Amino acid sequence: MLSLIVALDENGVIGNGNTMPWDIPEDLSLFKEITTGSIIIMGRKTFESIGRPLPNRINFVLTKDKNFFHKDVQVFNCPNNALNSAYSLQKNSNQKIFIIGGRTIYNYFLPFITEFHFSHIKGKYSGDIFFPKVNLSNFYIKDKKEFKEFTYVHYIKNTCNL
Ligand SMILES: NC(=O)c1ccc[n+]([C@@H]2O[C@H](COP(=O)([O-])OP(=O)(O)OC[C@H]3O[C@@H](n4cnc5c(N)ncnc54)[C@H](OP(=O)(O)O)[C@@H]3O)[C@@H](O)[C@H]2O)c1
Repeated sequence: MLSLIVALDENGVIGNGNTMPWDIPEDLSLFKEITTGSIIIMGRKTFESIGRPLPNRINFVLTKDKNFFHKDVQVFNCPNNALNSAYSLQKNSNQKIFIIGGRTIYNYFLPFITEFHFSHIKGKYSGDIFFPKVNLSNFYIKDKKEFKEFTYVHYIKNTCNL
């Protein structure tokens, strides 16, 4: 299983420059709850916008920069190598794998995603980075929860649709 987690507004905005367009602590808590204990894969820009490795998770960072180094993160220059390495780890540890952004990285892994965690942020924010269009016709809703500033929806790929 390969999971993707994202927060997006009503226009599909996910970022403004290299920052998040909103500050919603309840969504950050949910992100933490869902991803803790897992392998998280992110782009270099998202890593830099977070500013540090996220604790209690295995942090994979994708960059084309062969000299990129940061203590406590595993650096990959190729998305397939990151994914294969994550699957190898998963075999031994049973940890989940989350694609956590940003747009370039979501775009790359989208065809392989079997589980989505969406936080649909209520309202429209200023931003210049958008989530790619996703076809959810092969997915069903496993869970949905209403929060004050967003709606959380958990989709799972329907594997019995042959
Ligand atoms: N709302 C949300 O849930 C959410 C989540 C995450 C991020 N975001 C937002 O998304 C924005 C960042 O997205 P982004 O698309 O600009 O950047 P990004 O996807 O975070 O990172 C892009 C970087 O990843 C590396 N990369 C991309 N393709 C690669 C490949 N094939 N091989 C190796 N490395 C590769 C490159 O790093 P190098 O340039 O170092 O080579 C590239 O510049 C920010 O605004 C952030 O706040 C929002």
